[in-house]
Amino acid sequence: MSSDERVKYWDSAWSNGRTHWHAKDINFALKNHGHLLLPGPRRRVLVPLCGKSVDMKWFYNNGHSVVGIEGVEMPVKEFFEENDIPYTTEELSWGKLYSSNDRRLQLYFCDLFEAKPEELGKFDAVWDRGSLVAIYEEDREKYSQFMKSVLAPDFRYLVNLMQYRPNELFNGPPRSIPNELVLQLFGDVCELNVLETLKWGKEEGPMYEYGMQEVVALLTPKK
Ligand SMILES: C[S@@+](CC[C@H](N)C(=O)[O-])C[C@H]1O[C@@H](n2cnc3c(N)ncnc32)[C@H](O)[C@@H]1O
Repeated sequence: MSSDERVKYWDSAWSNGRTHWHAKDINFALKNHGHLLLPGPRRRVLVPLCGKSVDMKWFYNNGHSVVGIEGVEMPVKEFFEENDIPYTTEELSWGKLYSSNDRRLQLYFCDLFEAKPEELGKFDAVWDRGSLVAIYEEDREKYSQFMKSVLAPDFRYLVNLMQYRPNELFNGPPRSIPNELVLQLFGDVCELNVLETLKWGKEEGPMYEYGMQEVVALLTPKK
């Protein structure tokens, strides 16, 4: 699949305002478990498939360095503009880099599968929300290889998984990612600890009928 094909669906979602996943508030998993993801100051945090998530502002405001990767340019620009953060841009052979003036906040506009791990460096923390659940099934193996290649030795990887019974009316995105699948993809180098399970009720949307639950899990180095 080419990069254009990969982000086509998302491009149209952003252009047409079909961005129900975008939240105005910090994600509950960060509020409840952020201290486990960021046990010390000035961590380097990766936010794959970042959209214009306000969670990035939260990391930045708390003194951490943030790198986001996003395949559609519109939310990248909007992120800086809506949060009043002055920025500069830089053309790269594999994308375009938007940076805050202090360069502590950097968003790459590129297909994640075109990003160069050696140029990104290593990350102490990964915040994976709407990312592993969003990519195509055929890209999952490549995705986990990429993520594992950018983890610092003592990493913390917090992931928000969506789990439900896929059916003929809905099978994602978000795609259902059971814990066993995470272990299949990351289990060679990670241990998985489930921190919280949030079962959807009627008020969270019709998917509750298919047993929708959000599982917050922390991946840490395998001992
Ligand atoms: C479900 S949204 C989640 C956004 C964000 N993580 C959040 O929590 O608000 C998925 C995002 O991934 C982007 N995306 C999808 N495939 C991508 C890819 N291959 N490379 C980079 N970004 C991609 C989409 O444009 C979209 O903004």
